[in-house]
Amino acid sequence: SHRIMLGPLVAAIDQGTSSTRFLVFNSKTAELLSHHQVEIKQSFPKEGWVEEDPKEILQSVYECMERTCEKLTQLNIDISNIKAIGVTNQRETTLVWDKETGEPLYNAIVWLDLRTQSTVERLINKTPGRNKNHLKHKTGLPISTYFSAVKLRWLMDNVAEVREAVVSHRAMFGTVDSWLIWCLTGGKSGGVHCTDVTNASRTMLFNIHSMDWDPELCKYFGIPMEILPRVRSSSEIYGLMKSGALSGIPISGCLGDQSAALVGQMCFQDGQAKNTYGTGCFLLRNTGAKPVMSDHGLLTTVAYKLGRDKPACYALEGSVAIAGAVVRWLQDNLGIIGSSEELEKLAASVGTSYGCYFVPAFSGLYAPYWEPSARGIICGLTQFTNKSHLAFAALEAVCFQTREILDAMNQDSGIPLTQLQVDGGMTSNRLLMQLQADILCIPVVKPSMPETTALGAAMAAGAAEGVSVWSLSPEDLSEVTSEKFEPQINPEESEFRYARWKKAVQKSMNWET
Ligand code: G3P
Repeated sequence: SHRIMLGPLVAAIDQGTSSTRFLVFNSKTAELLSHHQVEIKQSFPKEGWVEEDPKEILQSVYECMERTCEKLTQLNIDISNIKAIGVTNQRETTLVWDKETGEPLYNAIVWLDLRTQSTVERLINKTPGRNKNHLKHKTGLPISTYFSAVKLRWLMDNVAEVREAVVSHRAMFGTVDSWLIWCLTGGKSGGVHCTDVTNASRTMLFNIHSMDWDPELCKYFGIPMEILPRVRSSSEIYGLMKSGALSGIPISGCLGDQSAALVGQMCFQDGQAKNTYGTGCFLLRNTGAKPVMSDHGLLTTVAYKLGRDKPACYALEGSVAIAGAVVRWLQDNLGIIGSSEELEKLAASVGTSYGCYFVPAFSGLYAPYWEPSARGIICGLTQFTNKSHLAFAALEAVCFQTREILDAMNQDSGIPLTQLQVDGGMTSNRLLMQLQADILCIPVVKPSMPETTALGAAMAAGAAEGVSVWSLSPEDLSEVTSEKFEPQINPEESEFRYARWKKAVQKSMNWET
């Protein structure tokens, strides 16, 4: 039946912190036809360190592609209908490789990694007035462990192979998008070394006004500009797939995953916003052609630039480091659940945290605090507290953190959001969605097709000049259905719990003193 209504197909690689996916969409209907997902191992070699293996990441992409193609063939869908591939990725995660051997020179340092905390503190102490926003006028970002520049600096200072490769002009730096595109377009034999404006805007080396690498910033961090990828728009042909079943297909879309979700949720208008619950949680609000600087701890970031000659759009972003990661922690570190579905059941069985508050500040606190020295705490325990209450408190933590960034967003823009569009893995947790509406006191709206991040990357790829099988107009997707969660508790109850949460946050920042 599919065969009859199939338009050109567009695919997306979605390389997230916890897993890799390859997905194929019908460009006429935005219907997801097939996909495959592979988990990614994270290693924690020292306290606060988080690494991933670049080769495993690449391998997982190839595996997902192969398996998805097999599934399509089983569905009687001809893979030669795939006209373009988009790439979307976990942002900031930092890699350096050797362009002659094609080998990574160290593991990928994941965005959550805290090894640069002392470097960051030293840099902030050197600024006039110890101002973490010293570089914000150019980058839109506070000086933090989160962004790539400090991770790259660490690699150059601490890994002999990286240092030698830099000196002998063999080093290439990239975020995950650059690594994948370089490898997929041929690697050491002619791979394309590029990134897009959204990913570049997360490095702290990129000037979000001039839309290019900034020589002063590079000097500040001591980064030689020749190791940087070329910055391109989010929608243009970067190169062609070099091998495998999809060989010859253009890679023509590239966006950091949070930008891609904004596109996939059709937030093209100034003022539209979405919140994505992945490993972390990221609320982005489109601010149109102007970069808006936050007074409330949010980031200014490039939202997208959908074509070489198209204008860039900016967004305000509230970043929460730990969302889905808290589920994995309860599972892997405490062993109190066997799966994420179990978490929902456990929490639902009590329906309250019974006064227990859990601040999962495992990687310090991101927005709106930007406090790298914060650490996780669980407080309000009594003899009565059990693992179900803890499970509930973990879900509530995700909701409270979102409330904090939503409040900041509303204060910055002066126009409060009247509902919140959401997506990402955790949104399949209905209890979480209801709790989120209760804690925000506004409705939460979730699309029935959850893969909006991949959809955004596929749309960008399909719309690129020279591909042009996708028009990027929201009317195309008028069929999109969604589900709405209305607040059910009274606002006083909600405010009471939120006030308690804020107290707990203060303790997570000051627990040492
Ligand atoms: O900034 C990090 C972000 O891009 C990671 O997204 O979905 O892997 O949590 P996710």
